[in-house]
Amino acid sequence: MTTKNTGAILYDYTRMMADAVGARHGVSAAELGKFEKSAAAAARGVTRKHEAGALPFMDLPKKIKAAKDIAAYADRLKKYENFVVLGIGGSSLGAIALQTALNPAHYNLMPAKARAGRPRLFVEDNVDPDRIANLLEVIDPRKTMFNVISKSGGTAETMGGFMVARDLVARRVGVKNLKNHFVATTDKSQGHLRKIVDAEGWDSFIVPDGVGGRFSVLTPVGLVPAAAVGIDILSLLRGAAAVALRCAGESLGGNPALLAAALQFLACTRKGKSINVMMPYAQRLRDIADWYRQLWAESLGKERDLAGKIVNAGQTPVKALGATDQHSQVQLYNEGPNDKTLTLMRVNSFDQKVPIAPSYKDIGAIAYLGGRTMEELINAECRATEKALTDHNRPNSCFVFPQVNAHTVGQILFLLEMQTAYAGEMWNVNTYDQPGVEAGKIATYALMGRPGFEKQAEEIKRAESKLKPLVI
Ligand code: PA5
Repeated sequence: MTTKNTGAILYDYTRMMADAVGARHGVSAAELGKFEKSAAAAARGVTRKHEAGALPFMDLPKKIKAAKDIAAYADRLKKYENFVVLGIGGSSLGAIALQTALNPAHYNLMPAKARAGRPRLFVEDNVDPDRIANLLEVIDPRKTMFNVISKSGGTAETMGGFMVARDLVARRVGVKNLKNHFVATTDKSQGHLRKIVDAEGWDSFIVPDGVGGRFSVLTPVGLVPAAAVGIDILSLLRGAAAVALRCAGESLGGNPALLAAALQFLACTRKGKSINVMMPYAQRLRDIADWYRQLWAESLGKERDLAGKIVNAGQTPVKALGATDQHSQVQLYNEGPNDKTLTLMRVNSFDQKVPIAPSYKDIGAIAYLGGRTMEELINAECRATEKALTDHNRPNSCFVFPQVNAHTVGQILFLLEMQTAYAGEMWNVNTYDQPGVEAGKIATYALMGRPGFEKQAEEIKRAESKLKPLVI
């Protein structure tokens, strides 16, 4: 499924500004002008870290040779009917976003020939027993490759799912054949998963040092599952590389990622917009909003700033889907608390046009739709929401895609990563750690009886003994 570059994404931020939504809710040109120096400092902060080798995610668009090796590996997966990712958070959201954006909506239901002989993709990113049991009922383990993805190699959710799947596969194909059904993506030398891989002789891919889960979509974490289902990962990297060039400067006018970060930062810290809703008007972009939700939340949601001061920083990302959520959320977005910015996404040219056949000429209230296309309808809905939000003084912006393809998806993913890196500098937080996630992981280890966590288990039991739930 090769895709060609059909152009750049546009970032229309006009309606984030005071001229469009008023000075109380929008950022004025003067405020943005005054922020130029801070924005430039944020850009320099990112560059400094990158030059010191601390931001290897920024080098990923150049890793063409590694991507070619992954594509070659993926060609060998055609003998499998299923490719199952076992991972969570940054180790699964990228693969889901890529599959939704770049393969047909019902890819897994298509016959193997229409999938070019590629396997179906399942991403098990939860430990829900009903869900995993059902998956293991419907796939044939003998025809399945499991990709266990964990940078740390010890995440309970992923390792729990792996141990369930391993047992099933071992019973069906024998322990010595496990290596034909498991491939890992993990650290090159650390962690328990790496030990298992080395001991059992599996194939494995490396999560590069210093690339955290939520910045890892362009590493083997996202690229191996994507290539397995025929996504053009080279175009993806080329799209990211094109944006890397555009998002490197220090001036707001010349760096769209820096500008987007500045607008969200100012809207949040000066105009009280503590929520950022991402609302693509394209089903295929839906899971990019989900991926971004983790990126923005985990990177910026921090108790302390870099000086150690308690700041409880961050802006809550919310995902929504146009036009579906117009009939669920937009009432609130227009008339509820004016505490949000909205980031819409629109696609100029969908792959399918889907004309609406003229009919019911005598019913004017629906006849007008006849002769138009579904593309015109969804884009009209997006523009209508932009207008309604603006009329209600709700700051909103829009990323306009020429088309959804691997090149433009590479562009948006990398742009949002750079936006997040710049925003982290503006909020002056550690963008790349997640102590709040670690706390939950430790509590789970304690509750599940992992040795060394007995004290935490006692603490949790004590606290839980004081709860007084109501019987309903
Ligand atoms: O972004 C992150 O770092 C996290 O969301 C991790 O990806 C997630 O916790 C899973 O961790 P791991 O890949 O170590 O299993």
